[in-house]
Amino acid sequence: MSKIESILTETRVFEPSAETLASVAITQNKLDEMYTAAAKDNVGFWSDLAREKLSWSKPFTVGLDDSNAPHYKWFTDGELNVSYNCIDRHLDTKSDKLAIIFEGDQGDIERYTYKELHDHVCRFANTLTAQGITKGDRVIIYMPMIPQAVIAMQACARIGAIHSIVFGGFSAEALKDRIEDAGAKLVITTNGSRRGGKTIPLKGAVDEALSKGCDSIKKVIVYRRTDDEVMMKEGRDIDWFEAEAGMSDYHDPVMVESEHPLFLLYTSGSTGKPKGVQHSTGGYLLNAHVTNEWMFDLNDSDVFWCTADVGWITGHTYVAYGPLSVGATMLMFEGVPTYPDAGRFWQVCQDHGVTVFYTAPTAIRALMKFGGDLPNKYDLSKLRILGTVGEPINPEAWMWYYEVIGGSRCPIIDTWWQTETGAHMIAPFPITSLKPGSCTKALPGIDAAILDEDGNELGPGDGGLLIIKQPWPSMIRTIWNDDQRYKDTYFPLEGNNYYVVGDSAHKDKDGYFWILGRIDDVLNVSGHRLGTMEIESALVSHPLVAEAAIVGRPHDIKGEAVSAFVVLNVDTPEGAEREALILELRNWVAKEIGPIAKPDEIRFGTNLPKTRSGKIMRRLLKTIAKGEEVTQDTSTLEDPSILDQFKNQK
Ligand code: WTA
Repeated sequence: MSKIESILTETRVFEPSAETLASVAITQNKLDEMYTAAAKDNVGFWSDLAREKLSWSKPFTVGLDDSNAPHYKWFTDGELNVSYNCIDRHLDTKSDKLAIIFEGDQGDIERYTYKELHDHVCRFANTLTAQGITKGDRVIIYMPMIPQAVIAMQACARIGAIHSIVFGGFSAEALKDRIEDAGAKLVITTNGSRRGGKTIPLKGAVDEALSKGCDSIKKVIVYRRTDDEVMMKEGRDIDWFEAEAGMSDYHDPVMVESEHPLFLLYTSGSTGKPKGVQHSTGGYLLNAHVTNEWMFDLNDSDVFWCTADVGWITGHTYVAYGPLSVGATMLMFEGVPTYPDAGRFWQVCQDHGVTVFYTAPTAIRALMKFGGDLPNKYDLSKLRILGTVGEPINPEAWMWYYEVIGGSRCPIIDTWWQTETGAHMIAPFPITSLKPGSCTKALPGIDAAILDEDGNELGPGDGGLLIIKQPWPSMIRTIWNDDQRYKDTYFPLEGNNYYVVGDSAHKDKDGYFWILGRIDDVLNVSGHRLGTMEIESALVSHPLVAEAAIVGRPHDIKGEAVSAFVVLNVDTPEGAEREALILELRNWVAKEIGPIAKPDEIRFGTNLPKTRSGKIMRRLLKTIAKGEEVTQDTSTLEDPSILDQFKNQK
């Protein structure tokens, strides 16, 4: 890959409305000043912001310690507490202001003021302490989108415990791997969750994971979200409310060093097991804070709704931490966008007066299919800013979001970032001129560039590797238990310490970035990163499967769909038996990893297309998955007839 062709030619430009220009906090002058300050002294720029935006119990004197690059420490000698910054410091002025508005799947509503949130978090922090959890211990949170998930996260932060959220859609196997890698002491879960009118059990997966290992786990705290019965293991499992009984709603936050790990979050990489991305306290919170101000312009009258689950990084930075750090009101929603009908998102926006709405392109595309009638039934006039994240947004979906949801008055904030970057990296401010499909420019203090494979910086229009040249406060600190992998994955280039993102992109003549996609073997299904390796290993662990290759195929709604190419160690069955095996394998993957990783299609062959040296030729499989003719050079292929076997199955 020297230069990647870009096929998208989008020429429309959308200027901010007069209303936006007049109302937002960051004006063009302010923005120009920030760019100038960051260009002059990057570390000074971030340090000034860290002093201005965060409350430190011990001020820092060191901005950046890069003596052990590519390990970077920010604000090293400072001390602070994230929960204090998100809650306590607002109590003087905002104790009665709403921190969280919650709407459940069934339309049930809960509201928490900052004072109430404070009391809940303190009680739960005391509860965790009473269960023997102290600073540095790892706690797994396996919960649905309910306020208790945020309370649990904040309580961990308050006592200096390191949380690791496992997405509620992940299976017992995936949960077990993460618990064991993190060496966690305690799990916080619920008996189940409510989604789309159904109750979905969760605790069962915890029981299954713990029955297979996870010896480090001493206690499980169970919040009863549904009326369903739940098995409670004597001596290990405790009811949330029983554990909380008698606990004080006062708790003195534990001040920690700026570099103290705030959380681990597991994410997919191209090879092997998921990576435990380790984030810091001070640096992480700074970028979480400022990007909520910069991109979403959050102020006292806003109701901010980020639809992401707390199981993903977006649910950390734009649900659990960032909006609270800036003192905003944020909305949490338990359900799904299509229940009771595909107008639910718009109903929630209307009913709670949502002003800033942040979701994923996959959700927009799914809802766009239902047309404009549903959103038009609701009053969406309070909306002033719309955001997207997770994958490139195609211009068609962008236009629909802009016109139908935003009434052509709300800027579309297309935010490019990753689990590892902690917060937005390339994204417009509300006043930026927009081009549908581009995440626009790198933020002040973020030094992004495009390189060819020899490390030369590329000019306008040429696609290549997206890299970040200088460290920034909220960057990943290491991969838990695997520091070598941290260095190999993110800093693979000779002679420099550029952070290599794993995406390809190009920059146009105006300096706007256009993300082209991943360069590693990672799929992006509905905005979620899935490693092809993980799905392949899951398939191969089935007794009938000898080999498997996974590729992505473009999909209208999901962005990418999972296509599996499988070699069995028995003869390929025919007819109904074949269909039954496909079903079994799909469910197998759902059980091993989770339903989001389920292959959309499975094809069988007697071998995979390999080079003579035994490398699977994935680009050929991609062509077949797309249903296209193979026109590539197949001369290095060991057995070309394999391709026909796979091709003839659809
Ligand atoms: C992709 C999600 C284009 C990208 C916050 C990145 C995007 C990966 C965008 C990270 C966007 C995310 N435009 N692509 N606005 N946002 N991506 O770690 O490939 O789940 O590397 O973090 O999603 O996914 P992750």
